[in-house]
Amino acid sequence: MKHFNLFYVLEKSLKHCISAVGCTVVVCLLIFCRILNSNSLTTVRDDAFSGLPYLEYLFIESNKLETTSKYAFRGLRDLTHLDVPVTENTTVISLPRDLFIDLDSLIELDLRRNAFECDCRAKWLMTWLKNTNATVSDVVFAGPEDMKGKRLNDMTSLQNECVSTDFILHQSVASESLSVDTFSYKNDVYVAISAPSTESCMIFQWDHIEMNFRTYDNITGQSIVGCKSVIIENEVFVIVAQLFGGSHIYKFDDDQSRFNKFQDIEVSKISKPNDIEAFQIGSDWFFVIADSSKAGLSTLYKWNDNGFYSYQSLHQWYRDTDVEFLDLDGKAHLILASRSQVPVIYQWSRSNQKFILQGENPNMEDVVVVKHFRIKEELYLAMTRYIGDSKVLRWGTKQFAEIQALPSRGSMILQPFSFKERYCLALGSDYTFSQIYLWDEDNKIFDRFKEVYIQAPRSFTVVSTDRRDFIFSSSFKGNTQIFEHIIIDLSL
Ligand SMILES: *[C@@H]1O[C@H](CO)[C@@H](O)[C@H](O)[C@H]1NC(C)=O
Ligand SMILES: *[C@@H]1O[C@H](CO)[C@@H](O)[C@H](O)[C@H]1NC(C)=O
Ligand SMILES: *[C@@H]1O[C@H](CO)[C@@H](O)[C@H](O)[C@H]1NC(C)=O
Repeated sequence: MKHFNLFYVLEKSLKHCISAVGCTVVVCLLIFCRILNSNSLTTVRDDAFSGLPYLEYLFIESNKLETTSKYAFRGLRDLTHLDVPVTENTTVISLPRDLFIDLDSLIELDLRRNAFECDCRAKWLMTWLKNTNATVSDVVFAGPEDMKGKRLNDMTSLQNECVSTDFILHQSVASESLSVDTFSYKNDVYVAISAPSTESCMIFQWDHIEMNFRTYDNITGQSIVGCKSVIIENEVFVIVAQLFGGSHIYKFDDDQSRFNKFQDIEVSKISKPNDIEAFQIGSDWFFVIADSSKAGLSTLYKWNDNGFYSYQSLHQWYRDTDVEFLDLDGKAHLILASRSQVPVIYQWSRSNQKFILQGENPNMEDVVVVKHFRIKEELYLAMTRYIGDSKVLRWGTKQFAEIQALPSRGSMILQPFSFKERYCLALGSDYTFSQIYLWDEDNKIFDRFKEVYIQAPRSFTVVSTDRRDFIFSSSFKGNTQIFEHIIIDLSL
């Protein structure tokens, strides 16, 4: 079949080689096409050989070839032998992605006349080389200096290095907010936003069709400062902390698709709630309200099958701003940050069934928020300070040691978060841009990565749904912004 059309091919090849590639002499012998006279050939254009569907051999000789277009070899399904200086006489080059994708019959590919740069643009070629059945000449790198002479065929690591990350605005919620919390219930993802200006906990639900977060319910109240979800035995509760009128717990009603009041919290010792932390120790559910007034008392509440009741008073006279629950060497701990002293650590005592004051974090005045996170097996703390330096600490032998200081300009939050194997810190700022830092695994520190502008940021919360990752940034003076974390393929 193939050979039947040979003369047609021959004729067409002459025409097309001349018109498409601009070479002056084309010698075609039966199924063998050789393009000569290199001097004027600088570019192999898209569909340069489109009139030659049966072309089997292609050799291009040129000293001046500068570029090869992405679709230069489109449609050459019968091509078996290819020898191209895809870009010659330039020291470093890359090939257009998927340049060889149509070459189904390729048996031999000679790339020796090409000088490749070892960077992400060569990634597709590496993948292609691994899968092709053709015999390919060694592809040797010409640069950069430290990669000179290495074979592309031997590379394995390019894969992971060729992706980067970014945050783009996905949606904006026209409301100020203080805290954001997320929970999943029956295959749906919800977000609870405490919005003092609208006097509500706004409940949003991810819309799988519209691909955005839609308003679902509003728990209304009075000067709401915190909305924290807890799921106990398949029931969803939202703890609502208010500056006035006491604090309450709402329960999700499946039939009505809304939250109804479930209980009042006993708040005789709470005057100015600032943070809610909910957690489990063994099978028991607890939450703590950190109280930031001088007269108030941070209080631990425990679940008893009918509701939450106040269980232990923690910290008096200290104006606590934040409480963090964490597991330290297999034991439950709380870290409390206060306006008037360094952060203190409580340890859960199994015999007493209470938290016992264990120690403090010295030399860490003015910490407003403490968050913990893990990178691989290591445990870290992120300590937010309003002015001066916020700190990153690592858990070593029985204590936390500072590993990094991050300059803070009016910071109310230093939030750790991670997407797959990428670890980040978001450092809010009341006076300038907020900073996103990215973990550098080689140097074991965070590097500045991106600036985002948010007015008076108060929290950053990761929400993942439909294989997409979002970060909600609350703002005390502007809209609540929802950013999407995206992966950028640098090999494109
Ligand atoms: C090709 O390389 C040679 C030697 O490096 C150089 O003298 C010449 O100018 C180059 N030609 C072009 C077209 O860049
Ligand atoms: C390589 O050859 C095998 C066996 O003939 C075939 O199944 C496979 O599809 C070929 N791979 C490519 C990329 O053509
Ligand atoms: C909740 O309140 C916001 C702001 O007041 C309003 O825009 C939204 O429609 C309300 N949502 C529901 C489900 O009632």
